[in-house]
Amino acid sequence: MSADQLYPPSTELVENANITRWMRDRGIASYDALLARAADYEWYWAEMAKELDWFQPWTRTLRWNTPFAEWFLGGKINIAYNALDRHARGPRKNKVAYIFEGEPGDVQRWTYYDLWRETNRFANALKRLGIQAGDRVTLYLPMIPQLPIAMLACAKIGAVHSVIFSGFSSTALKDRVNDAEAKLLITADGSFRRGKAVPLKANTDAALAAGTPSVRHVIVVRRTGLEVSMQSGRDLWWHDLTAAESDHCESVPLDSEAVLFTLYTSGTTGKPKGIVHVHGGYAVGVHTSLKYVFDLKETDIYWCAADIGWVTGHSYIVYAPLMLGATSVMYEGAPDWPEPDRWWRIIAREGVTILYTSPTAIRMHMKFGESWSRAHDLSTLRLLGSVGEPINPEAWRWYHAHVGGGRCPIMDTWWQTETGAFMVSPLPVTPLKPGSATRPLPGIAVDVVDQSGQRSPDGEGGFAVIRQPWPSMLRTLYKDPDRYRQTYWSRWPNLYLTGDAAMRDADGYLWFRGRADEVLNVAGHRLGTSEVESALVAHPAVAEAACIGVPHDVKGDVPKVYVTLKAGHQPSPQLADELKQWVANEIGPIARPEAIEFRDRLPKTRSGKIMRRLLKAETLGKDVGDVSTLED
Ligand code: WT7
Repeated sequence: MSADQLYPPSTELVENANITRWMRDRGIASYDALLARAADYEWYWAEMAKELDWFQPWTRTLRWNTPFAEWFLGGKINIAYNALDRHARGPRKNKVAYIFEGEPGDVQRWTYYDLWRETNRFANALKRLGIQAGDRVTLYLPMIPQLPIAMLACAKIGAVHSVIFSGFSSTALKDRVNDAEAKLLITADGSFRRGKAVPLKANTDAALAAGTPSVRHVIVVRRTGLEVSMQSGRDLWWHDLTAAESDHCESVPLDSEAVLFTLYTSGTTGKPKGIVHVHGGYAVGVHTSLKYVFDLKETDIYWCAADIGWVTGHSYIVYAPLMLGATSVMYEGAPDWPEPDRWWRIIAREGVTILYTSPTAIRMHMKFGESWSRAHDLSTLRLLGSVGEPINPEAWRWYHAHVGGGRCPIMDTWWQTETGAFMVSPLPVTPLKPGSATRPLPGIAVDVVDQSGQRSPDGEGGFAVIRQPWPSMLRTLYKDPDRYRQTYWSRWPNLYLTGDAAMRDADGYLWFRGRADEVLNVAGHRLGTSEVESALVAHPAVAEAACIGVPHDVKGDVPKVYVTLKAGHQPSPQLADELKQWVANEIGPIARPEAIEFRDRLPKTRSGKIMRRLLKAETLGKDVGDVSTLED
């Protein structure tokens, strides 16, 4: 199979697809005609926005004061109303919203009615604690139903949630709580991971002890039974707090531009960026993309096997599937626990029809071998998805054959925390090319440009950019509009800089090639090299650090660090281990360097910038290129 072999969609898929119906209703005859019609993107997005419930319709679709967008102006909406209330009062009341499976094997089925009532109780508890619209609430929770419930409860009352991935360390948690100035922190006693209980409350206590002056209360979910210390007056158990609350709490009508959440992501400086998303446009973006790309139907059993701690989980485990009234699987633990067939067991038992995961997870399953998936009946699957990094053709082929049984199209969805929703992805009518996320979705103008911002010719690589606003775009960086403008909109006028390298082929298909900046993609998660470096230079023995990404067969990239030591410190294997652990403690286990190499000096430019490019070329045994600006 050549990398550009075309996989046309089956006639059955095309005939029954949600997008086909949408096109028929409007007399649009082909995929190309759809893209052409959606060039009028304000029209297209307004059509899509009508599929949601608005308390009050908008009066203007878009105000674009580059680079600041406002969508659906004058509209009143609440994403939680769309995700829960309208279902709890309609025919989906007793439909299962989440099939939750805990790592120890406990299964809970939450109907829309169940989820709505618990969310209402929790929202009432938040109000009782004095949480008001606009207040920030930090959630440091594992993959348990209380995480979406807490998010939805915040949304209901107009509070802003900030979810911190539960694999992050107490230092990372503290920094993010302080940036958000969160009044409330919600956590669990612990979380199950590979048969052990991770002490989340103890991590939270460490973060609080290090100084989080804004936090007034900590709510704790009992999950593992780990013993925890509860500070009286400050710490409250979820079950005590909600026990006496009413099952009723109306979702407040909010301005469509009201902030829904912030989510921190890595950039090219040591300080993570707080990406800001809003109720209206974000709801439209994620609802549209899941409905038409994954073709979600009433009878589907859908599983996005990501973590809610990242944007994939926010958009495609919580908000989009609930707005669509879907039944989703939510799994707490490790994919290979207790054995590598854990996922395949769940798919077979629940009759999962759609699976959305990452290339890094697929490569992990590939390593275990196909005997694990072959032992289970995966014949209910009809669509597969991939996200997080470019999917290499070997992984694509394996996923297609050994998970999809050769019959399921793979939706390779390119997007970012900043974009909120899919930007480049096939629709069920799109012929696939393994390794390409295919074409920009209708209403989305992703393109490839050269150094000067001119459109790159087909077949030539360049920088991926976005030429026009879209409803689910980030609105700004939390408390830092200047950094927002600087990071995304300053390189070329009117072009959003994605940070990715890409190529557009002669058919207009896009091939993403990874980051073009100092950001690594570790197992589908973004990590700035400078974050690792600033963690290391905070260690008493370290003078300077330079981090590069080196290829890894499962994780994509892994960090490797070159370190110079301060006088009086000697390199040793023990110190290398200590530094690896230090980074894991400062940021989280995903940032743990694969290797630490001690050097007497690091190569620098005349202006004193460390030349990571040179270190990388040397490590990978590649040509070092132009070194004329090198000082040392
Ligand atoms: C970066 C965004 C979007 C949710 C998960 C990661 C890379 C993401 C793809 C894809 C090639 C991809 C890009 C992007 N990326 N999806 N299908 N093909 N690359 O979110 O942490 O914001 O990272 O992930 O490099 O810029 P994120």
